Amino acid sequence: MKCAVVYYSKTGVTKRIADQIQAKFNADVYLVEPEKAYGGFLSSVARVVGEKISKKGAALKTAVSDFSSYDTVFIGFPVWCGTVPDFMQEYIRKANLAGKRIIPFATASATGKESSLNTLKSLLPNSKITDYFYTSSRQKGDVKGWIEGIE
Ligand SMILES: Cc1cc2nc3c(=O)[nH]c(=O)nc-3n(C[C@H](O)[C@H](O)[C@H](O)COP(=O)(O)O)c2cc1C
Repeated sequence: MKCAVVYYSKTGVTKRIADQIQAKFNADVYLVEPEKAYGGFLSSVARVVGEKISKKGAALKTAVSDFSSYDTVFIGFPVWCGTVPDFMQEYIRKANLAGKRIIPFATASATGKESSLNTLKSLLPNSKITDYFYTSSRQKGDVKGWIEGIE
């Protein structure tokens, strides 16, 4: 399968999974970043909450890429405030992923497993979401086993 990995990672946890996907599937990697990088944990939480209240999410640093040549797109993100980070949601909304197989992977401390998947389903009504992977500090997922099991 010709696949891409689209991800954001602030502290490297999601990136480690993206790197393993890249190695296994020889995937092209697309890093999604906010124009202004987020700082430490507390300042990031404060900023994200402010952005949610003002309904003005972070601007994207990266232009949305053309995924038309891929059949499968992995989408990775840290759970932020219970779901997919808002700027990542904006990227997903803008990317044309209709008809694609989407394989999401989320990392978190403890929460956001179902809500992140529900957010993705509503953002991608015309894509085929399969093999969703979630791992958290509290409930560690088996990354290697998950990647090996993807067909
Ligand atoms: C702004 C912010 C909000 C977060 N919100 C949540 C949350 O709602 N639930 C959770 O379990 N973890 C939350 N976390 C923790 C991250 O999801 C977790 O540390 C993740 O694995 C970090 O991935 P990264 O290293 O790829 O950035 C939050 C972290 C940040 C910075």
